[in-house]
Amino acid sequence: MALVDCIPVHLRPSLLLLTGVYHFLMTIFETIFVHPDLSLLFNLSALREKSFGRLWINNGEAMSEKMPDSMDALLKTAHGVVLDVGPGSGEQLPRFYPDKIDIMYGAEPSIYLHPGLLKNADKAGFGSKYRALQCGGEPESLIPALAKVGALNVGASQGAFDAIVCVRVLCGVPRPEETIQGLYRLLKPGGRLLVCEHTVNPWRHGSGSILARIFQVIYKLLGWSFFMGGCNIDRDTVKFLRAGAGTEGWAKTELKYVEPDTAVPHIVGYLVKRT
Ligand SMILES: C[S@@+](CC[C@H](N)C(=O)[O-])C[C@H]1O[C@@H](n2cnc3c(N)ncnc32)[C@H](O)[C@@H]1O
Repeated sequence: MALVDCIPVHLRPSLLLLTGVYHFLMTIFETIFVHPDLSLLFNLSALREKSFGRLWINNGEAMSEKMPDSMDALLKTAHGVVLDVGPGSGEQLPRFYPDKIDIMYGAEPSIYLHPGLLKNADKAGFGSKYRALQCGGEPESLIPALAKVGALNVGASQGAFDAIVCVRVLCGVPRPEETIQGLYRLLKPGGRLLVCEHTVNPWRHGSGSILARIFQVIYKLLGWSFFMGGCNIDRDTVKFLRAGAGTEGWAKTELKYVEPDTAVPHIVGYLVKRT
């Protein structure tokens, strides 16, 4: 990409960052003047969670319109028993085929997003086949929540899911390697981890851009993670995904970069657990 073309592309995420700052400030304003709650004001992590919920409720739909083309085809292949990690308010749900899915669990920690999630699940045709759980994707949060709704009762030792979906969520989970190892264990043999995630710019591997990588560092220094709900703009998710299957490795890994020369490059594809 010529320099004159790529600068506007690299600057695009700054609009998102400014939106995050705006919602954080509005959350503080509302917490003081609209629904006064001093305890929330002094609880930074709860304040950030509320602020991200506000951002996603207002912008999630717009932020989900333009997704990598290959993701659509990927999500349409999900079938059987499916776990969606961090579904937000369900903006991706219309991309699935509910007829091919027996039951889908959405592990969404933000309670602010659950009303939208349930509404969108209904709109997408899931009906009673969708279960929203208030938990994260990390094992200590996910396993008890799944056990509570009976999702682990059958064949738990062999894994419970035909597919686990991670769309724009692994950038924000705590301890990504451990979280992905936990997801790996939950897959049935032959089950697939479907991913569409933004990652560190792959310039070191020849397909990215060092300028885009510099922009990632700038966004990080400007507080990207703080204002964007804990999202790490430059997480090496591919490394964590590959390591997630432990020493035996995945049976098959099919991951492709989309827009690798930008500050928000994505990997889209799937990893198959050994049978
Ligand atoms: C950028 S949004 C993506 C939402 C949805 N997957 C999509 O792409 O439209 C990230 C989502 O992950 C959720 N999240 C944050 N931390 C999480 C965690 N530890 N485990 C699971 N989800 C998490 C957030 O609440 C938010 O809904």
